[in-house]
Amino acid sequence: AQEADTGGEKVSSAATLEVLQTEVAGCTLCDELASTRTQTVFGVGSPSARLCFMGEAPGADEDRTGIPFVGRAGQLLTKIIEACTLTRDEVYILNVLKCRPPGNRNPTPTESANCKQYLRRQLELIEPEYICCLGAVAAQNLLETTETIGRLRGRVHQYRGINVVCTYHPAYLLRNPSAKKDCWDDMKMLMGLMGVKL
Ligand code: URA
Repeated sequence: AQEADTGGEKVSSAATLEVLQTEVAGCTLCDELASTRTQTVFGVGSPSARLCFMGEAPGADEDRTGIPFVGRAGQLLTKIIEACTLTRDEVYILNVLKCRPPGNRNPTPTESANCKQYLRRQLELIEPEYICCLGAVAAQNLLETTETIGRLRGRVHQYRGINVVCTYHPAYLLRNPSAKKDCWDDMKMLMGLMGVKL
């Protein structure tokens, strides 16, 4: 698919998720990431999901398998999803960045900007009602803010007409189990908004 230039921001015009996935797989906008990745990690789940979980970037396990959130943090995310009485198959799981940054460093502003068009088109094609941002990098990237996750969580934000709830990244919860209670409060708020009874 072609890339259209609208108002300074590049937007992919891929007509389907499959076309977009192929476009992403061939992306070489970030020299370093394109040369160090094993493969791109696009996203998994239902293409018509009401709820998307959005992380930061693939780690080593995801780079190896091509599937987001399959490592230790991913296993905790799966438990969180199941505690919400949902399954990984009925939500959609994606990351801000589709390539693994070497050594799991944070994405650079240029990398985030390069990948934003794919994220934006991916969300346009899925049309979720809700996005749950996992951690500060995802939340700050989507909402274009520098506020901390501690300040962003616990309330509802908007991204292009989609309701956004932010909570701690599961990798942070593995290191700081006392934050699990706050994460669960965020999930209960989100499930309440979605009309999912817990
Ligand atoms: N952490 C993320 O943010 N995304 C993944 O896919 C895995 C770990």
